[in-house]
Amino acid sequence: MSEETLVHLIAAARPNFMKVAPLYHALSANDRFNVRLVHTGQHYDANMSQAFFDDLGLPQPHHYLEVGSGTHAEQTAKVMMRYEETVTQELPDWTVVVGDVNSTAAVAMVCAKLLIPVVHLEAGLRSGDRSMPEEINRLITDTIADLLWTPSPDADENLLKEGVAAARIELVGNIMIDSYELMRERIEAADTGAKLGVAGDQFGVVTLHRPANVDARASLELLVNQLLCASEQLKLVFPVHPRTRKSLESHGLLDRLASSSRIQLIEPLSYIEFMSLVNGAMLAVTDSGGIQEETTYLDIPCLTLRPNTERPITVTQGSNRLVKPAELLDNIEKVLAGDWPASRCPDLWDGRTAPRCVKSLETYLDAASAA
Ligand code: UD1
Repeated sequence: MSEETLVHLIAAARPNFMKVAPLYHALSANDRFNVRLVHTGQHYDANMSQAFFDDLGLPQPHHYLEVGSGTHAEQTAKVMMRYEETVTQELPDWTVVVGDVNSTAAVAMVCAKLLIPVVHLEAGLRSGDRSMPEEINRLITDTIADLLWTPSPDADENLLKEGVAAARIELVGNIMIDSYELMRERIEAADTGAKLGVAGDQFGVVTLHRPANVDARASLELLVNQLLCASEQLKLVFPVHPRTRKSLESHGLLDRLASSSRIQLIEPLSYIEFMSLVNGAMLAVTDSGGIQEETTYLDIPCLTLRPNTERPITVTQGSNRLVKPAELLDNIEKVLAGDWPASRCPDLWDGRTAPRCVKSLETYLDAASAA
């Protein structure tokens, strides 16, 4: 009988929670592991954090680091200082980081320097665009993580090209799909469209939060104008990210957007409410990473307002297309005319990624104890 392995699972910001939850549940169900949840507090509003813990059945975090917002350096440094304190007191056997947010890279750096083995879930994704803070986080994390769990073959290829040893890489599939499948019944029963009064209508879902789209007035104004024109073709529901709301307000654009009766500006939704909304939508307009994948899984047209994507399989196999802001309206018209490719679900996006991660960790531990 092997000894219990203490695993820290790091959650930080909204897109992390649906990656952490299936793995938390799978590790907790296995006697070999003692899993402890660490929330860095990068996202802290109830509707950006606690609502996701509630929906996904996550317990209160065992450690809450309360780092909050700040510049990139402040946020990264605070996570490093506070996690270093936690980790030196508790000394986990493994730490798991997910995604590409500032906390992901910060925790990986702390572990690497304290020689605590670290595994990166959703490794190997590359946009090739180093002006995105997430790309820097991905590069740092993958360089120093001991074990790299990838969602798709393109990620393996990226890592091999960067000189990562094949033995460190394991293709496990897309963990986000596990969350969807875990919650499928509740998502299908949620009927968010009806609650917002758009059920029965064709409608689109909009999410925007990338600094390149929402921070500067010029780019944000272009998007606001495009959305106003698009709303004449299709009702839009727009759960507004706090970063985007602040920017719309400070540039005096919130009232202009709110003036259309065909655009509903709402607060961020919980996971189940949001997936239910997407499920009933005609299309999604987004700059998120995760929504590109969820729409590929659900075969819903996705118009991604970015010049590149670290998730190319959603374009080569899925229903996602990269769209220039000025061409948003044309692309919406294409979808409405039925002129949009159907999605083929990528391999291993099957709701079984978390058990594959657990198996991978067990194999790694067995090999280490045999050595
Ligand atoms: C972060 C991640 C991004 C991810 C996104 C999802 C990094 C570099 N960026 O970007 O990869 O796609 O989360 O949302 O890690 N705010 C609140 N309440 C909150 C959280 C944030 O009001 O709960 C405000 C902050 O004060 C800040 C703004 O929203 O002004 C942006 O938050 P921040 O965490 O800096 O980055 P995101 O844009 O959310």
